[in-house]
Amino acid sequence: MRAVAAFVFLASAGLLTAGLVGAGASSSPPADVASSADVEKGREIYERCGACHSLERDRVGPRHCGLFGRRAGSVPGFVYSDAMRESRLFWGRKTLDRFLTNPLAVVPGTFMGYAGIPDPKEREQLLDYLDVATRGEQCDAAAGSAAKTDGDGRGRRGDVRD
Ligand code: HEC
Repeated sequence: MRAVAAFVFLASAGLLTAGLVGAGASSSPPADVASSADVEKGREIYERCGACHSLERDRVGPRHCGLFGRRAGSVPGFVYSDAMRESRLFWGRKTLDRFLTNPLAVVPGTFMGYAGIPDPKEREQLLDYLDVATRGEQCDAAAGSAAKTDGDGRGRRGDVRD
């Protein structure tokens, strides 16, 4: 019985897909799904960060592996500004988008000497890339659990999350 239901489901999904392809809808993915072209563009934009950051290693700036969901200023052993440690930000798409628009305005006193990315489309592409890269294989192979810290993991009043 289950197998039959699964077959019917697959068959109708197949028809649906065929219908969409027929209508030409498959050529434009939904706006909220990152295309590989956006991720690729984001990888190029990330090169601007490469003077100070890498995915797996702390450099002038902290490593980016495990960034999403992490409390700002929480990579163990990296010396952050007080401003960053006390910002109460948790990194997600919205907080990163705001921070990267104008780092000094969002975290006054940050050590990150970078003017920001004013173009919203470029920020979106950069975040599409970071979303994939900071959870990717390159990060699994890296410093392991240390790269995935979210500080003490406990929420506090006044935390700013996505
Ligand atoms: C000139 C060096 C420099 C450049 C260029 C730079 N950063 Fe940073 N970044 C830093 C430093 C230093 C910090 C630590 C800031 C602090 O403690 O206030 C930081 C912190 C961060 C943080 C917070 C990380 C955390 O663990 O809380 C994020 C996110 C970030 N940078 C993203 C970026 C991105 C994305 C780019 C490129 C668009 C970039 N940075 C370019 C130096 C830089």
